[in-house]
Amino acid sequence: MKEAQEYRRRIYLARHFPPAVEARIAKRYEVVRNESDEIMTAAQLAAEAKGCDYLLVSPTETVSRPVFEQLAGTLKAVATLAVGYDRIDLEAARQHGVAVFNAPGVLTDACADLGMMLLLNASRRGYEADALLRSGNWTGWAPTQLLGVGLGGKRLGILGMGRIGQAVAARARGFGLEIHYHNRTRLPDAEELGARYYETPEALLAVSDIFMICAPGTPALAAFLDYRRISLLPRNAIVINISRGDTVVDDALIAALEEKRIFAAGLDVYANEPAVDPRYCRLNNVFLTPHIASATEETRDAMGFILLDALEDFERGTVPANQLC
Ligand code: DGY
Repeated sequence: MKEAQEYRRRIYLARHFPPAVEARIAKRYEVVRNESDEIMTAAQLAAEAKGCDYLLVSPTETVSRPVFEQLAGTLKAVATLAVGYDRIDLEAARQHGVAVFNAPGVLTDACADLGMMLLLNASRRGYEADALLRSGNWTGWAPTQLLGVGLGGKRLGILGMGRIGQAVAARARGFGLEIHYHNRTRLPDAEELGARYYETPEALLAVSDIFMICAPGTPALAAFLDYRRISLLPRNAIVINISRGDTVVDDALIAALEEKRIFAAGLDVYANEPAVDPRYCRLNNVFLTPHIASATEETRDAMGFILLDALEDFERGTVPANQLC
């Protein structure tokens, strides 16, 4: 007798994912997809993914309670191509018995590299240097041209000393920076590697010649870097953000940059992405990248694969380490 055909689970792809990841998905699942790759609203996602077992999303999709409600009955798991899961309502997922997976660990190095790229470009005026050359107005080397801030002996204050914060610290030590940090819990001695711990973010701000936000974006951190906290930074400080855009109050940071109370900023993330506050684009002393911290081919493949591994574990009834609920 002919064996019953194996049920192929149906997965909804909310974006276009790297070819190697999509090839592996196509071998195992029936694929339904957002052909346009345009960012979808939660309502569009819920309508398009009807009947799917799994959702593969990214940091651009909001998987809110109504999405779980509308997909109830068929949806079994949501996997996000991100370490951050601030747009997924985990409480609603739990209530609907839906598993959620993220992609931690594999993007640590790429994010730390990008943090250093922002730090170097902010401190050495990367945007202005590039723009000067391209403008055709460069008249040649000059003793006082485009003077930046040297890094040796400066204090790098890292907010959030998880995997990414520690990887930033490892790189920054090589540039002669002193490492200072605040974290919800102090690291054990063996992991501190000489970094100095501060009990409060405010105490850390006060000693940070360069202040880098590496903590995951959580509601508790929303609007963290406001006027008051920026005023605690030493004069001429540099601010770097590789966390989430809403951790920074744009009005406060822009005012500090405009008034040159701080030397520069390097930003990869923004409130209301992709609608970046246009005032940033008019400032010379900010180096901007469009949320590309994890954007290397190797990393994005690895992020996809860790999620597909997790879904396969889930199908076998085991709980992978990257299951959030
Ligand atoms: C994440 O993984 O949360 C990043 O923001 C995506 O690059």
